[in-house]
Amino acid sequence: MVAPAPTIASCSVRDFDALLPLLDQEFIFGKDRQLSLQQRFPAILDRHHPQNILLASVEGSIASALATKPFVWVTPERRWRAAMIGMVYTRPQLRGRGTASALMRATQAKLAQESFDFAVLWAAQPDFYARLGWSGIDCGTLGRVHTTSPDPIQSALPPGAADIAWIEALRTQYAPERAERTYKTYATLLPHAQRLELLRGDAAYAIAGTDDNQGYLYEVLGDAAELPALWARLATRYHTLYLNLRRGTPAQSFLSAQRGITWQAQRLAMWLPLAARARGARFGDWYVPFLDRI
Ligand SMILES: CC(C)(COP(=O)(O)OP(=O)(O)OC[C@H]1O[C@@H](n2cnc3c(N)ncnc32)[C@H](O)[C@@H]1OP(=O)(O)O)[C@@H](O)C(=O)NCCC(=O)NCCS
Repeated sequence: MVAPAPTIASCSVRDFDALLPLLDQEFIFGKDRQLSLQQRFPAILDRHHPQNILLASVEGSIASALATKPFVWVTPERRWRAAMIGMVYTRPQLRGRGTASALMRATQAKLAQESFDFAVLWAAQPDFYARLGWSGIDCGTLGRVHTTSPDPIQSALPPGAADIAWIEALRTQYAPERAERTYKTYATLLPHAQRLELLRGDAAYAIAGTDDNQGYLYEVLGDAAELPALWARLATRYHTLYLNLRRGTPAQSFLSAQRGITWQAQRLAMWLPLAARARGARFGDWYVPFLDRI
């Protein structure tokens, strides 16, 4: 039997209410994780503005979904109109029928038509996306370090409004290639983390997610002279700390000289040029920090 072609459309508020439990079950609760995706990605899963979620429906009910996040990627040469894609999902009973592929193709065509320069996503199943034209190019590295008796001397809070203004000023200075952010970016909480912590120095900072046992370093930036002091705080804070960094940055070079951290090249980022000017883009040099991702 030939499967009926899915209908592809933007998500409505009504669709959103039906979709959220499906996505939460797939990506969060079914994996024994906590906190709904809506709390983790408030900028993307906004019930009142669900248009950036695209759906493929079969016979009137949701078969597949994905979320897009438009963003501006700033580099010294230009500002790029870019989009991230995430939460790619098909109902378990409808998998293997080409629905997610059809939704991806339609999304890619829509983004190209809307004059986006490129798209990026992070995938554990690269083959699925490679067939749709995406290239796996990742300059990220993942460090891991254990501490037998962690000692978080002071509690650390998520970044507040004054911190965010201060961080943004440092990013302008120390991150010549960066995604533009809004306040909501600083509320992003990737699985498995349950809250964010900001460790502030005078002219450098680290932002980590934590579940009180493990830490996930999302970003470290600023004056390299302050890295040893920041590291002294980070290294003793969590039982296990995962360090997400771009290879070859001052922070990664400093940390790779520290004892006890094991490193593994990341193979998650995948890129798709959409406009002619993005064909020669330096995707291999670009690193989108975890805080910006979906
Ligand atoms: C990944 C996922 C979205 C794919 O959805 P899907 O609708 O099954 O995707 P498709 O049917 O388009 O493609 C899936 C497979 O079916 C094959 N396929 C495509 N069209 C087909 C058809 N008409 N008949 C049979 N198989 C087909 C594809 O070649 C693909 O093969 P692969 O498993 O080797 O990659 C789905 O498995 C899912 O929701 N997984 C859980 C969430 C997840 O991991 N998301 C991705 C995060 S990076």
